[in-house]
Amino acid sequence: MNAFNFSAGPAALPGPVRERLAEALRPDQRGTPSVAEISHRGARFGAIAEELLARLRALTGVGDEHEILLLHGGANLQFAWLPMNLAVGRTAAYVLTGHWGEKALAEARRVGPAEVVASAADGGYVDLPELGHLPPDSAYLHYTGNETIHGVQYPAPPVVGVPLAADLSSEFLSRPYPYDALGFAYAGAQKNLGIAGLTVVLIRRDLLDRIPDGLPKYLDYRTWASSGSMYNTPATLAWYVALEVLRWIEDGGGLSALGTRNAARASRLYAAIDASEFWSNPVAEHCRSVMNVPFFAADERLTMAAVAAAEDAGLIGLKGHRALGGLRASLYNAVDDEAVETLIDFLKEFERSRS
Ligand SMILES: Cc1ncc(COP(=O)(O)O)c(C=O)c1O
Repeated sequence: MNAFNFSAGPAALPGPVRERLAEALRPDQRGTPSVAEISHRGARFGAIAEELLARLRALTGVGDEHEILLLHGGANLQFAWLPMNLAVGRTAAYVLTGHWGEKALAEARRVGPAEVVASAADGGYVDLPELGHLPPDSAYLHYTGNETIHGVQYPAPPVVGVPLAADLSSEFLSRPYPYDALGFAYAGAQKNLGIAGLTVVLIRRDLLDRIPDGLPKYLDYRTWASSGSMYNTPATLAWYVALEVLRWIEDGGGLSALGTRNAARASRLYAAIDASEFWSNPVAEHCRSVMNVPFFAADERLTMAAVAAAEDAGLIGLKGHRALGGLRASLYNAVDDEAVETLIDFLKEFERSRS
C-alpha cells in the first residue's frame, strides 16, 4: 500500500528530491565527503549557494531592489526580528486572519507599538476582514498570506499605501505571486522548499536604511545582506535540499504550472467536502486555502476514529492542529494528485460506512 503524506510541516518532499538527497548522502567507495560534511566557505558549497540564490531570484521575479536572505530561526524568529529592524520609532500594523498572525502580533508588541487594523477573530477566522484605517506612522502592514491552521488565504496581497510585510510560510513558491510588490516577506523551507532549518527572507533594499544602529549583529538584516547570508554557518543540508526543490519546480514547468495544478486539486477536495453531508469546511469560498484544507466531521466524536482509519489506509498527517481540532489536509507542492484522489475516496467511504 502506498503512503500519502498530508503533514502541515515538515512536509512531503518531491519524490525526485528525496532520491537526490539519499544519493547525496550515500557514501561512495572513496569516502568522498557528502554535501553535509563540507565547509560552507569552500568552492563546492559556494556553487550550491550561488545557484540557490539565482534560482530563488528567478522564480520569485525580484530584481535588484530586493535582497534575498537565507536565515536561521524559522518564521517565529521573524515575528520579533522584523519589528526590531523595521518598526523602531513607528507603529507596526497587523491584519489578523488566524493563529499565526496573532503570534506575530504578540511578538511585535514585545518590541514596540503594534496595532490591529483589521481582524477576522470575531467570526472565528472564516473570512478576510475589511482593512481599517492604518496609523499614519505605520512602518508596514503585516499579513499572513496563508493561515496554515485556519485554512484562510489571501487570493492576492492586500493593497495599502505602506510597505507590505508578508508571512508566506505555508504558501511560498506554490503559485505565481507579486513578490516584487512586497516590502518584506518570509517563509520557512519546511513546507514548500524542502526541509527545516532554512528561512527565506525577501526585503526591499531601501528598507534596510530604517534599521537602527546598535542591534546585536546577528539580529541586523544588514549583517546578512552584506555577507551573502553566511555570517555564521548556514544550515547547509537545508540549502542543498532547497536547491534541489527549485530545480524540481523548474523541471515541472515553474510556478504557473504548480499554481494551476495546486488550485485544481484543492478545488476537487473542497467540492467533495461541500457535496458531503458528513464533512464540512466553514471558510468563505473566495479565501479558502489552496495549501491547507481544514475540515470537520458532523459528529466530532468520530474525528479521532477518522484520523486512525486514514492512517490505516496510508493517509498520514491528517490530524487537525490542536488550536482548531478536526482534520486538515496540507496540499503542498510535493503532494501529488493521486494522494488527493485517494483522500477524496477515503472521505466518501468513511462517510458511507458511518451513515
Ligand atoms: C503561516 C505560518 N507562520 C509561521 C509558522 C511558524 O513557522 P516556524 O516553525 O518556521 O517558526 C508556521 C508554521 O507552521 C506557519 O504556517
